[in-house]
Amino acid sequence: MKLMLLGPPGAGKGTQAKRLEDAYGIIQLSTGDMLRAEVSSGSDLGKQAKEVMESGGLVSDDLIINMISSRIDQDDCQKGFILDGFPRTTPQAEALDVMFAEKDMKLDRVIEMKVDDEAMVERITGRYTCAKCGAGYHDSFQKPEVEGVCDKCGGTEFTRRADDNAETVRSRLQAYHDQTAPIISYYREKGVLESVDGMAGIDDVTKQLKEVIG
Ligand code: AP5
Repeated sequence: MKLMLLGPPGAGKGTQAKRLEDAYGIIQLSTGDMLRAEVSSGSDLGKQAKEVMESGGLVSDDLIINMISSRIDQDDCQKGFILDGFPRTTPQAEALDVMFAEKDMKLDRVIEMKVDDEAMVERITGRYTCAKCGAGYHDSFQKPEVEGVCDKCGGTEFTRRADDNAETVRSRLQAYHDQTAPIISYYREKGVLESVDGMAGIDDVTKQLKEVIG
């Protein structure tokens, strides 16, 4: 099964993709996570991406398209995947069509997570992640059961993303409206777009997604 989650920064794409991984036995392909791994490793690609990401802009289409194309060819993607954060521009969406045609693949669902911009700043600035296993949390909306201890792995170290400050979030939301929102119409015009209410609680959004996926 191949799914695509669309929505602005903070819509809950990563939170829900992790839940869908567990529910459907497919893997999350987050271009943001891939880029952060490149930045941490100090690779050439990471060096090119770092500044753009910290400013809240978008990394170049060519770089992203090559990165995702080779990732999809890996063995762990053969059972299926959830695209999270890709495509993000019309050229990326068009390149994905070509890529899928060449690989003889088909998207099963394209799902937009509809949210209000206003709420996204609070969601993102309150987000943090377990440094050991990557499980996601939020200061108000998704606290660990025991404060300071990861529910999944028992880790006690947590990290916050460099681009999760209020100023950069506003630039990321702007980039979304300028460059990514047009692909909503791209998929709507193809007749494949479905949507869920991303403003609902986390469990409710998972329920809505499962209903759409079937
Ligand atoms: P990326 O990592 O993709 O970030 P993003 O799209 O900005 O999305 P986020 O990860 O911030 O949000 P999310 O929707 O996953 O929300 P989450 O589930 O964590 O990209 C980062 C950067 O990389 C980009 O700015 C760009 O520079 C570059 N990049 C990446 N892909 C690219 C591409 N294709 N082309 C070019 N550049 C690219 O939720 C947020 C918080 O809210 C969490 O704490 C969560 O607990 C909480 N939450 C989630 N759902 C709910 C809910 N329903 N109710 C209450 N709280 C909730």
